[in-house]
Amino acid sequence: MAVAPMRITFCCTDTKAQPWLEGLRAALPNATIEQWTAGANLADYAVVWAPPQAFFDEQVALKGIFNIGAGVDALMGLRLPATAAVVRLDDAGMSVQMAEYVCHAVIRHFREFDAYEADVSAGKWSYRKPRLRSDFPVGVMGLGVLGERVARALAQFDFPTLGWSRSPKTVDGVRCFSGQAEFADFLAMTRVLVCLLPLTPETQDILRRDTLAQLLPGAYVINVARGGHLVDDDLLALIASGHVAGATLDVFRVEPLPAAHPFWHHPKITITPHTSARTLREESIAQIARKIRALHEGEPVTGLAGLVDLKKGY
Ligand code: NAP
Ligand code: GLV
Repeated sequence: MAVAPMRITFCCTDTKAQPWLEGLRAALPNATIEQWTAGANLADYAVVWAPPQAFFDEQVALKGIFNIGAGVDALMGLRLPATAAVVRLDDAGMSVQMAEYVCHAVIRHFREFDAYEADVSAGKWSYRKPRLRSDFPVGVMGLGVLGERVARALAQFDFPTLGWSRSPKTVDGVRCFSGQAEFADFLAMTRVLVCLLPLTPETQDILRRDTLAQLLPGAYVINVARGGHLVDDDLLALIASGHVAGATLDVFRVEPLPAAHPFWHHPKITITPHTSARTLREESIAQIARKIRALHEGEPVTGLAGLVDLKKGY
């Protein structure tokens, strides 16, 4: 069915605009879709990634703001038009990538593949004593679209799996904790900690000395959420003390990670360049176009998966 005309503006930092514009135009042929420039016409909907405040200062008629990522922390500090719903990507092919990445990191650590690789490079054929899976309980912070998928995938490998969220959850094979009241118990039973929380004022710096110190000895930290969750110096100090055995980090306070940062060459830290779950263009365009069409046809905004609660910040 044809959709009434509409105007869509595209404002995505660090993103090649042309393929997105072509994909969106093909998916929404009745819409006028342009890359935003200062002074552009007022649009009905925006497709954004980390836009500047100047964009929202001008685009005051927006009914929907569609973020081409799962995390909306880059939007939450801005003054947004009061009339606009903010909608983030709801999976769009990211949860399976995140499950692959986290399972890979957990298994690589648990099975000591780094040590085997070093031995093989040195021409050594050597065995290590198998470790007990029961000694490596994995705790996933955040049981949302990505965290739940990751927790289920870890449980499939028979790791004792725990999860922590704001509100109570039930996930098969996962021991679930919720709220501040149960945070200490969750940490005390976790050895491998995976962060998949959104970055909000409540979760900023949540991976710090006093929380990481509550993990089981020989802890391992996997941060795939945002750099702002982790206090870098606290992690380094806990690795130096031996309480934390190492970390796999995909996200950083400053990205790209500055060349002089100690994480680059730390022997117990594996880093990747914010790539654990990439935005997949085709899936994302299909999802955003479907949601814009629904909103434009008058469907209630509350029915949209990925609608951001501005009070909670995610
Ligand atoms: P989501 O569906 O909104 O899930 C967020 C989860 O965190 C929910 O379970 C929520 O609890 C929980 N949570 C939020 N605040 C909390 C608090 N104060 N205490 C305890 N739990 C809290 O988000 P998602 O789609 O899974 O994505 C999670 C994050 O991953 C994104 O925000 C983004 O920063 C990051 N990410 C990173 C990459 C990458 O490539 N590195 C890619 C995509 C996403 P409730 O369920 O009770 O609300
Ligand atoms: C990537 O980090 C995202 O939030 O989608």
